[in-house]
Amino acid sequence: MLPKKRARIIGTGKCMPKTVLTNQDLEKMVNTTDEWIKSRTGIKERRITTAKESTSDLAIQAAKDALENAHTKAEELDAILVCTCTPDMFFPSVGCILQAALGAKKAWAMDLSAACSGFIYGMATAKSFIESGAAQKILLIGVDTLSKITNWQDRSTCILFGDGAGACVLSSETGESGILSVFLGADGSNTEILKVPAGGSRMPIDQNALNEKLNTIKMDGPEVYKLAVTKMVEAAKAALRLADKKPTDLKLIIPHQANLRIIESVAKRLELKEDVVFVNVQKYGNMSAATTIVALDEAQKEGRIKQGELLELVAFGAGLTWGAAVIQW
Ligand code: UT7
Repeated sequence: MLPKKRARIIGTGKCMPKTVLTNQDLEKMVNTTDEWIKSRTGIKERRITTAKESTSDLAIQAAKDALENAHTKAEELDAILVCTCTPDMFFPSVGCILQAALGAKKAWAMDLSAACSGFIYGMATAKSFIESGAAQKILLIGVDTLSKITNWQDRSTCILFGDGAGACVLSSETGESGILSVFLGADGSNTEILKVPAGGSRMPIDQNALNEKLNTIKMDGPEVYKLAVTKMVEAAKAALRLADKKPTDLKLIIPHQANLRIIESVAKRLELKEDVVFVNVQKYGNMSAATTIVALDEAQKEGRIKQGELLELVAFGAGLTWGAAVIQW
């Protein structure tokens, strides 16, 4: 029997916009305080793209960083998969923009939309292509620029989000290391608690949509909060079960970075110690599909995960969508 093919991460990268928006800056924009934001979310600052910077600009830089760390040339890539809910435009996809910018001539390219869970959905997709033998090397990106669809007058949402991009190269390998399992879930009956109503085919942007700011994020924060905790715990346990592992086997867990209180609740319910939980929400806020991969890039470069150790990524987002992936590094 041929040895089982595994999708292994052979290099990661990220790109953060240079502009920093602090809680003190937000105090000047809406009726809020640094104290409220820190105590309710753990966020101190976030990165924001300028009017000239787009999702693909961040994605290209993150991709170049990941390719360099993976010692991989763009020409070697079989596929480019970009997880985002804030593409440059309806079409072409960010994936195709990247394919040209990187010179990844033989790669097919597409975008995948699962909001904040996007990167986990992307991992599941890339894993399947690699394990089936359909691809050997895939560039997987998690990128979002939620600042472009944020209502900067709504204090209940504008304090939460930031922009960023993370990337990794997945390679077909036969050793023990790689993505061991992925669990995905969705509940499309509960769309109202987190959505951008206008800008698509149901409600194209018109003057009324602009006046009412319907082209920006609308969220029932407390409801999203409750479901985020429940579903991330469920997903984390399910992916561990699929990999035949237990929470105590984990060297590191990287939860979606939306709110420090959500992260702490998830860790408590999984009975994980503080030093097993990766947190960078204080620096970047919620970057949607970019959170887990940016965190993975930082965790790895900080030496928080070593070869052979077990880690898990878990996320929750609009859709509703959720998922978790167990990785042997
Ligand atoms: O990736 C998935 C997407 N999103 C999330 O995961 C976010 C999930 N939700 C959350 O993180 C939290 O629900 C929030 C941080 C959004 C809100 O925290 P909360 O503890 O659930 O507060 P709340 O919405 O229940 O609001 C409490 C109070 C309200 O005032 P009253 O009605 O009690 O007088 C709000 O009007 O806090 C007020 N408030 C603020 N005050 C100061 C809401 N936003 C702010 C603000 N500054 N920025």
